[in-house]
Amino acid sequence: MNSLIVASNRVPSPDKGSGSQGGLAVGVMNALSRTDGLWLGWNGNTEEAPSRVIDHYDFDGVRFATFPMSIEEHRLFYIGYSNEVLWPLFHYRPDMIEYNREKERGYLAVNQLFADNIRTVVNEDSRIWIHDYQLMAVGHLLRQSGVEAPLGFFLHTPFPPWDLLRILPEYENLLHYMSAYDTIGFQTDLDLYNFRDCMKRGIGAEVEEDGTLVVDGRRSRADVYPISIDIETAREMAEQGEHSPTGQRLKRSLNNRPLMIGTDRLDYSKGLYKRFQAYERLLERFEERRGNVIYIQISPSSRTDVEEYAALRTTLERVTGHVNGRFAEYDWMPLRYLNRGYDRASIMGFLRQSRVALITPLRDGMNLVAKEFIAAQDPEDPGVLVLSHLAGASRELADGALLCNPFDIDGVAEVMERALSMPLEERRARWQSMMTVLRNNDIHQWSESFLAALDHNAGRRRDGQQQ
Ligand code: F6P
Repeated sequence: MNSLIVASNRVPSPDKGSGSQGGLAVGVMNALSRTDGLWLGWNGNTEEAPSRVIDHYDFDGVRFATFPMSIEEHRLFYIGYSNEVLWPLFHYRPDMIEYNREKERGYLAVNQLFADNIRTVVNEDSRIWIHDYQLMAVGHLLRQSGVEAPLGFFLHTPFPPWDLLRILPEYENLLHYMSAYDTIGFQTDLDLYNFRDCMKRGIGAEVEEDGTLVVDGRRSRADVYPISIDIETAREMAEQGEHSPTGQRLKRSLNNRPLMIGTDRLDYSKGLYKRFQAYERLLERFEERRGNVIYIQISPSSRTDVEEYAALRTTLERVTGHVNGRFAEYDWMPLRYLNRGYDRASIMGFLRQSRVALITPLRDGMNLVAKEFIAAQDPEDPGVLVLSHLAGASRELADGALLCNPFDIDGVAEVMERALSMPLEERRARWQSMMTVLRNNDIHQWSESFLAALDHNAGRRRDGQQQ
């Protein structure tokens, strides 16, 4: 029996670090391992003419159903529409959109493939939970083919404001697809606000007093469910990671210098170039930091088929060389830039040993590394979170983190210095306040509250249909 069917484009890969697989895989894996569920998605492979057979297997207590994509599907749906159109649009980068109609058709075709595959595993008890911008049309396609199961959708990225969304030629279709879901979840109140506004202006949706959206007589409910982490698992991994041979090797290499860390997929939305510039400004303006801090940036390559990503990689290599060439000493290298991933335990151990985490995206749906960093800390000697106010996580963590504007290079450099020199007592107080937030909304609460809302809203729809 598949009581919960989750579908996302990518499913987790066992050996990847948290920085490389993105928040979706980490968050959903945690949620699903507690439920009787099945996770359906792309197996990560492309073939000239793939067989349409679904591969079923168990991993880490979760059942998976995966399938390959054709090279053409991958080009149009994944590289094209998902990553060259929707991703930049949803991250407020219209200048990076590379649109054409063929990509949109490819997007719909692969969404149809997902819908068809879901239909092979669905039964009358199933609830279906679709994830992220790659699969927005799946719910609509399922309904078209007669599936009546409760349908939920969660967007892990930001949702753009109306004036950006309407850059997309088929924005009306996209909004209609969204209206097929019983429950739609967003990371922050701002995303929810944008979505409701777009639904009203874009396709004339009615918004009832309790927030229910009505489109062509169909009702759906959108709300905020900030994704979170499994605190205990993160804490245990961090402790083990710190004491592992890798963790100890890192410690020796630091030679008692405070560590600042960043761990992000190599993506222009993460603000890495500006972060490197801010670090250079720190070393320029606060001379006593020279020789007395180490910044490690772990950024495995991502979406390498998209031009902007390859260009960013070249830029980061250049800036790393520049910063190290300018400030390094024969016994100190200021910036260690690692264009590779590590297993999760090592990353968690690195986070625990860091005095400061640099999480300075130019735009981010949530950013779970921010939450993992908090959970990883030693309560006696916790580190400081430097967090962009443009990351979804800043809505919950504003009291404990040091917020910054990632576009303000001098401002970020000053916040870095403040974080590095923060007294222990203040570090503890800030960390405590962030831990309280995490304890009040961990990954289990996230999935439980979303699924409870899904049951409720689907129940209302069915009651309405019977009347
Ligand atoms: O969290 C956003 C997201 O796009 C996920 O949907 C995705 O799994 C992750 O980032 C990594 O991106 P990609 O699957 O393109 O490598």
